[in-house]
Amino acid sequence: MTQGLETAPRRWARHDEPVAHRSSLAVVPGSFDPITLGHLDVVERAARLFDAVIVGVAENSAKLGLLSIATRIELIEDCTGHLDNVQVARVPGLLAEFCREVGAIAIVKGLRGGQDWGHEEPMALVNKELTGIETVFLAAAPTWGHVSSSLVKDVVRHGGNISPYVTPAVEAALVAYLHGPV
Ligand code: PNS
Repeated sequence: MTQGLETAPRRWARHDEPVAHRSSLAVVPGSFDPITLGHLDVVERAARLFDAVIVGVAENSAKLGLLSIATRIELIEDCTGHLDNVQVARVPGLLAEFCREVGAIAIVKGLRGGQDWGHEEPMALVNKELTGIETVFLAAAPTWGHVSSSLVKDVVRHGGNISPYVTPAVEAALVAYLHGPV
């Protein structure tokens, strides 16, 4: 036992170069049609875990988009302006390729439970097979576990109040888009 304790510190001193200065970049991808407060919570948490974060707005071929990519990016920039290590970008093709091009070490996604896992696990595995990129999952905060962009769009389409789920700018954009200017 004593021998193990004595050798342990030496493992930390194995490399000559200090590692504390190394920077890490993560990509938080999604359709963000529109960004919800649940998405924003994941971006804020990723921004605390990594040195830098790119919020990547990507096409999901299984979903018909409502807002243009440019509007989605604008709305994400609006609500992440307080995070100085976060940028927003369009992912023009494969997410895994984008991560390689920007030098990201991880994809970060929020998980709202078993249904999300069923959807996310194959994507994480394919992305890993494509370029070796790892996916890190953050458990959705209980406050936001039931919130999705699809539900938000459905509620606002039928005249319901979406202010608990999105920022005022997102609410205004959706209302203006669906019902004319507020
Ligand atoms: O918010 P979503 O719709 O769950 O996000 C899914 C998204 C957009 C991240 C995913 O569809 C994606 O990565 N699209 C980019 C194209 C791609 O890389 N497809 C292969 C995924 S394994």
